[in-house]
Amino acid sequence: MGNYRLTEEEYGRVLSIKRDLHMHPELSGREKRTTETICRILKEIPGTEILPFENRLGTGVLARIRGTGEGPETALRADIDALPQNEEYESEWKSRTDGVMHACGHDFHTASLLGAAMILGRAKADGFLKGTADLIFQPAEEGTRGARAFLDAGLFNLIHPDRIFGIHNWPSVPSGRVVVHEGVLMAAKRNAKVRLRGAGGHGSMPHLNVDPIVCAGALIQSLQTIVSRNTSPLDSLVLSVNSIQGGSPVNLVVESVELMMTIRSLSEEALDRAAGRTETIVARTAEAYECGSEIIWEEKIPAVRNLPEMCGIAMKAADYAGAAVTDAPPSLASEDFALYRTAGIPSFFYWVGSTAEGDTVEELHRPRFHTDDSAMRTAAGLYAASVLAQEGD
Ligand code: NI
Repeated sequence: MGNYRLTEEEYGRVLSIKRDLHMHPELSGREKRTTETICRILKEIPGTEILPFENRLGTGVLARIRGTGEGPETALRADIDALPQNEEYESEWKSRTDGVMHACGHDFHTASLLGAAMILGRAKADGFLKGTADLIFQPAEEGTRGARAFLDAGLFNLIHPDRIFGIHNWPSVPSGRVVVHEGVLMAAKRNAKVRLRGAGGHGSMPHLNVDPIVCAGALIQSLQTIVSRNTSPLDSLVLSVNSIQGGSPVNLVVESVELMMTIRSLSEEALDRAAGRTETIVARTAEAYECGSEIIWEEKIPAVRNLPEMCGIAMKAADYAGAAVTDAPPSLASEDFALYRTAGIPSFFYWVGSTAEGDTVEELHRPRFHTDDSAMRTAAGLYAASVLAQEGD
């Protein structure tokens, strides 16, 4: 299996792809150049076919490498989008686009999956690849719209994987290590927009108006009791109101206020209970303050859960890739990779250590975030080995 890691020449290509993507980050659903780059590289890899696949976002790529014998069909997924923030980390390959940055390392994932395609193309030429590898370059992971767009476009009518693997770079874990964690790894999530409607009027006549700002204040306080009073102390739950929009000149009472909130939990039961309590608290608080109310929920993102039966093959793949296996506590961040599992495909999600020995850990989504690019050797090898490490080998 040692042959089926990145060669020095392949690593050089992966590195230059990653740095090119890093310089040209694109926001969710707008990954046009990134999509073109992925297609161009895939066309250079012998044995790779790009599948005709349209989705409503118009970005992302689906490709396939067919092996030369009987074996399982394995899907590998990378996300490709960037974030709306300014990069503060200085490097030659710093973002050339103001206000957009690969602050979650999806460029690292994309380049690593292209590296895996290079490895698998070689394995196919050697007659070593059995079964099929499906390569999913998914747009719009930030905001969790991309997996849904791919599923709605009939992803699993076109490919029929027996299992699916994804990765995320993980800054708090040193390069060369991979987290193989059984059970829930990343949180289930519900986002919602709450509208409170009052009755506007002159600020000097509160008795003739209905002020939704006061209602919003009471609501934000009450929602906090969901964590402290409605959630088992043994469960993890985060409820944050992250945005309040509503305002008017100082002599007016405003007509309406809009709040954006997120709820996350490692327990889907706790999340569902919190969502139910949110409904009640919003409706009753609004009523108490004589306001109208409305909640618009986004789709629930389930927890990323690594099935026990997938851990064996993940351990074997890490071994094949030459990575040191470690464990880490779960994160309350969420990932739309979880939607592929709910489509009935057994799944496994790795965290790949991405901070160089001695470097400062810069967490995901921070303006100084950066990855140790040599960790792409591990990531690419791990993706490829997840296909090549068959059960029973
Ligand atoms: Ni990410």
